Amino acid sequence: MSHPDFHNGELPVAPSAINPNSKSFTPEGFKDTVTPREMTLEDIKITINDFKQAAKNAVEAGFDGVEIHSSNGYLFHQFFNGTSNHRKDQYGGSIENRARFFFEVLDAMKQVIPQENIGARFNPSLHNIFGMTMDKDTIPTFDYIIKRLSKEYNLAYLHLSEPFNDVSNVEFAEPHIAKRYRPMYDGTLMINAGFDKDSGNKVIENGDADLVSYATLYISNPDLVGRFRENVATAQPDKATFYTPGPEGYTTYEAKTRDLIPK
Ligand SMILES: Cc1cc2nc3c(=O)[nH]c(=O)nc-3n(C[C@H](O)[C@H](O)[C@H](O)COP(=O)(O)O)c2cc1C
Repeated sequence: MSHPDFHNGELPVAPSAINPNSKSFTPEGFKDTVTPREMTLEDIKITINDFKQAAKNAVEAGFDGVEIHSSNGYLFHQFFNGTSNHRKDQYGGSIENRARFFFEVLDAMKQVIPQENIGARFNPSLHNIFGMTMDKDTIPTFDYIIKRLSKEYNLAYLHLSEPFNDVSNVEFAEPHIAKRYRPMYDGTLMINAGFDKDSGNKVIENGDADLVSYATLYISNPDLVGRFRENVATAQPDKATFYTPGPEGYTTYEAKTRDLIPK
């Protein structure tokens, strides 16, 4: 059994052979997703080992820590979610089974990097994006995972996202992620999505999170920390350059504080 070779036309893999009917970014731009191949138990074993090897490589390369990206419709999220996981084996069906792959990967990675240097990222209320659809088991699945991480592990941090779209009228969705999970998680909680300096400070002051992560603002402000510290206005990104190849929109934003050495 070898890894699928996408470049030679082999199908991508997923928990079940279900097309998420979404778009995937490729070097030639966005393309429609295809129906993937259902992962065999052997594929799962290989993938667990791949994550372990990746963590080992990161340590050897001198990184302090690694984050398991178990969020945003990627492979782990597909295992958690009822629309994408129709498996009948020990990796599907019950909540515990759907979370199994993630915990097996985490346990394998712990063997090569201290768990205190591993973070994990989740987006519990992702709905109608990247092929994820919420159902009655979705939030209970994340409750189970997060409570278990709190009780049985000592990770560097738990990284959560507030909903990416308005889910206030979506059945089964939790619109307030930090508020829900702060009481369930004893370790360091990082929150993401839609924050600026003021709202970021507020979520920490309220006690709903310990850390805030920024994506969009970091794209257009390479010295974001300096701008926050020195009260320098932040630049808005040019969204037309998102998901485009070449340096434009990546290395073309200016630093205005001493947090980044000028070009
Ligand atoms: C241009 C761009 C590309 C992104 N690419 C990814 C990605 O590849 N994978 C991912 O999980 N999230 C991706 N994100 C989402 C961010 O990780 C983050 O969750 C989101 O932008 C919300 O945080 P923000 O409001 O601070 O930007 C991307 C965001 C932007 C703006």
